This record gives sequence, C-alpha cells and structure tokens, in this order.
Amino acid sequence: SLLVPCVQELVKNPMLVVPPRYIRPDEDSPLNSDDTLISQIPIIDMQSLLSEESMDSDPFAAFSASRTAACEMSRKLSLLVNHGVSSAFLEKVKKEVKGFFNLSMEEKKKYWQHPGDVEGFGQAFVVSEEQKLDWADMFSMITLPVHMRKPHLFPKLPPSLRDTLEVYSMELKSLAMNLISKMGKVLNIKDEELREFFDNGFQSMRMNYYPPCPQPEKVMGLTPHSDGSALTILLQINEVEGLQIKNDGKWIPITPLPNAFIVNIGDTLEHRAIVNSIQERLSIATFYTKRLDGEIYPASSLISEKTPALFRRVTVEEYFRSRFARELRGKSHLDDLR
Ligand code: SIN
Ligand code: FE2
Repeated sequence: SLLVPCVQELVKNPMLVVPPRYIRPDEDSPLNSDDTLISQIPIIDMQSLLSEESMDSDPFAAFSASRTAACEMSRKLSLLVNHGVSSAFLEKVKKEVKGFFNLSMEEKKKYWQHPGDVEGFGQAFVVSEEQKLDWADMFSMITLPVHMRKPHLFPKLPPSLRDTLEVYSMELKSLAMNLISKMGKVLNIKDEELREFFDNGFQSMRMNYYPPCPQPEKVMGLTPHSDGSALTILLQINEVEGLQIKNDGKWIPITPLPNAFIVNIGDTLEHRAIVNSIQERLSIATFYTKRLDGEIYPASSLISEKTPALFRRVTVEEYFRSRFARELRGKSHLDDLR
C-alpha cells in the first residue's frame, strides 16, 4: 500500500481541480514572490576560485575575488559554473533521472517508501493524514558511506542509472570537499578541524519530479524548508523555473543556468519550489553532511571571547532527530539546538 499518492500518476487522469490534500491555505500561496532581486544571486567560477589559492595565503589579500566569492557563498545561494563536472556527463545524469521517473508504476513500486521511511519514492516529512502534500514525487536515498545504502535501493536501481549515479556521487563528493575547504580557509577554520568534520562524510541524494498542475497557484511543489546538510548541490534537470529562495521576507525565483550547480549551505537558507500549468520540472539535490556517528559543534577555531559559540554540541543523530521531529514548516530547527 502506498503511503502517499504518486502525483505523476495522478495527473494522467484529466483534472480541472486538484484534490484538497494539495490545496494550500492562502497565506502559503506560491503567488507571493518578487522577481526584482534575481540579479543578486552570485555566479561563482570554480576555476578562478581554485586558481587564486596561492594569492589567498597572502594575509594582505583580504579582498581577493575568491575571498569575496567564498564569503558570498557561505551566506546565501550561488550558481557554480566551471565546476569541473563535464556537460556530457551531466547530460547523461539528466537523461537517466528523467528515465527513472518515467518507469512504469509497476517498476517504481519496488522502490516505494514503506510507512515511516524517508528513502525511496514518495514524499518526505509526511507525518499526518491532514497535512498538505507537495505537488511532486521524490526519490531519495543514502549514497555514502556505501555500507549505509539500503539493499533494495541504490544496488537495485536500473544498471545504467546506478552506474551513472555511482560516478556522480564521487564527483559531487569531491566538489563538496573542495568547496568546503575553500570556505574553511576564508573563515580561518583549521585544516585538521575541517578534516575531522567532513572526511568520510554522509551523502544522500534526492530527485524531484514536479508534474504540471491545473491550479499551480493553489499548490506547492516543495514546502518551504532549509536543508539539513552542510552543503547542498542542486542540478536542475530541465530549464524550467520553480526554485525560490527567501530573502528579507521575500520569495525570489532562481532562474536556472544550464549545467550550473545551485549551491547552498544547509540550515541557513529557506527555499521552496513552485509548479506551473504547462511544463514538468525535475531536479536532483545532493547533500553532504558530517558522518552520522559524529557530533556537530561550532568550530573551536572560530570561538573566542568576542565570538562565543551560539549552538551547543549535539550528536549528528540528535540533530537529525530534531529535524525529522518537525514538519517542514519554514525555518530551520536550529533554534532548538542553541
Ligand atoms: C530541494 O530543495 O531539494 C530542491 C528544490 C528544487 O527542486 O529546486
Ligand atoms: Fe532543499
């Protein structure tokens, strides 16, 4: 038995009004957005970020481009270009992910969530029958460490998708580590500390499929939330707008840039996805986080008398428990961990 309906199947029947379980109250309307601020999203060139490595060790180069870029990146969302993952390979990833959502329902059922599961096809954070559902299907799974992969998911995927994601997982892990190390340098976090935090980290992926909707103004593709990761690297599978970030209380649409990665820091940036009446939209988010058997705490190289720790030390397990105990209602759960 399915925990939630498959929205992709739902829209195969002609429909003029969407079922009540998807209709949002007016105050959560997708219509309240402001597109006058789009131009403020920083576009970050990974090659120049890396080539300025030597300059960066110069204590007087406080305003180097890479320093500014890494600071920007650590504050909001950025579009990462020249990231080193080839376009030909990304096209393969996109094709495979599209094909996965287009499998027959019979095939998809093998991967459907069991009640209480986060992984597999379905929806995340569904805790009650009354709760509003997203106008989307997702497929999520743990990708690293390998021993945490669920036997019925990653290893049992269609072979060409599985092999592609295996490579994608490695590429994105190394990209995440490069970005984290760059940000760490700018923030003056000691290398050993960064290593201890992020080596052998936890990686998971989430593919999203947003079908067209006859009443896009009444539903939400993805409920407002912030990510529970250290770093999220998002690839838009097709060039359809939908992602929005919240800045100073306003929702700003993100215009996709072909094959650029959308990068954001987990638990800092609130975002959501809206849908439209004409085109489907697909994306794949890759999350990188500390090992699950570790602890999360403010880096000691950042703590001083003037800059005391704002959060307490928690186990990664406690962090995720606190996160999953809440419905996805807007802001992060971090306030509970102060
Ligand atoms: C996400 O928050 O996981 C991705 C949103 C999107 O589809 O752009
Ligand atoms: Fe997200």
